[in-house]
Amino acid sequence: MKSLDIVDPEIAAAIQSELERQRNNIILIASENFTSRAVMEAQSCVMTNKYAEGYPGKRYYRGTGCVDLAENLARERCIKLFGAEHVNVQPHSGTQANMAAYFAVLNAGDTIMGMNLAHGGHLSHGSPVNFSGKMYKIVPYNVSRETEMLDYSEMADIARKSRPQLIVVGASSYPRTIDFKAVREIADDVGALVMADIAHIAGMCAVGAHPSPVPYADIVTTTTHKTLRGPRGAIILCKEELASAIDRSVFPGTQGGPFMNSIAAKAVAFKEALTPEFKEYQFQVIRNARALAERLLKNDFDLVSGGTDNHLLLVKLLKEGITGKVADETLERAGITLNKNMIPFDPATPFVTSGIRIGTPAMTTRGMQEKQMAQIADMITMVLRDINNEKTIARVRSEAKALCDQFPLYPDMV
Ligand SMILES: Cc1ncc(COP(=O)(O)O)c(C=O)c1O
Repeated sequence: MKSLDIVDPEIAAAIQSELERQRNNIILIASENFTSRAVMEAQSCVMTNKYAEGYPGKRYYRGTGCVDLAENLARERCIKLFGAEHVNVQPHSGTQANMAAYFAVLNAGDTIMGMNLAHGGHLSHGSPVNFSGKMYKIVPYNVSRETEMLDYSEMADIARKSRPQLIVVGASSYPRTIDFKAVREIADDVGALVMADIAHIAGMCAVGAHPSPVPYADIVTTTTHKTLRGPRGAIILCKEELASAIDRSVFPGTQGGPFMNSIAAKAVAFKEALTPEFKEYQFQVIRNARALAERLLKNDFDLVSGGTDNHLLLVKLLKEGITGKVADETLERAGITLNKNMIPFDPATPFVTSGIRIGTPAMTTRGMQEKQMAQIADMITMVLRDINNEKTIARVRSEAKALCDQFPLYPDMV
């Protein structure tokens, strides 16, 4: 019997139910994935017990030889993976990585140009409810009303007018390729630094399935748990000249002791990401998103920007007269888990929204391909076209379960 079952049966039961939920539902949340057993083993290992403030070879505690080994491996593999000059593997989360990056290069009150949250940006890129929006002057940029894609000439105009110290590029819900070189040129024109937050697309950038920002950005931040398929956490990549400012900003600037178990798990994930299988996985994620998009378009749905180049797509539900909130609640009851999402120029509030976001990283990890994506698109269509019909919802729920059963998740886990 596992010790957790004995010590805390309530938490053991919650974990078991969560495993069943992950196994039995089609998970299309674009920011989620299923890590390997090896990553999870490392994340739940004895390194959780170790305090190691500082960096390898320069810690404030004794007994850090083994965790130094893990952190050095994480750093070496990550640098190889992204071709970066320097990496800090200690940030606990994407938001904390962004905070540390800002603190390294900005003063309070400086100007950041970041993508509007309602157009695909992230809270930590300058939302007024986030520290970033409270500490800095934020100048947002939008996607174009016509193409619903980034408009680099408008970005250049905004940059010339607002003279930001930092331009942040990267998104949580943008389905198109980002032109990092164009952003570099805009920044150079006004003497700004560039920070690319590739939290969503990191896996694709690592293998060349999406252009990498590493040659162009001064700083690159990313979470490790999305397309990168590692443990929860983040990293910061930067040019050598910013290395010590970034390291000081992470510790002691914004964090205390690093989560050494998570750093060990990051090292495992980077090793996995250096394999040919991982590269093929990233290209399949994109092929799957494209297949899903094509089938939804065929089924007469409107997609933001008309399609996708990456791992996600955004469905506009204005024509259907369904809110994102009703859509995601109903689809969850039908065994399909995704999230409501603002669409550009959304007339609805962020809690209601007029769209849904669909991502393929998790189901691609389970082994699904284009054929299953078309089937899933038809299942989504059935529910959304018959939103109040409980019989349809029940029928799709059993189809979702049957599809999940064909692609077992953690089959040897009990
Ligand atoms: C672009 C982007 N940056 C940062 C984050 C923040 O990551 P975390 O939730 O680990 O703070 C996210 C999370 O969704 C994101 O999409």
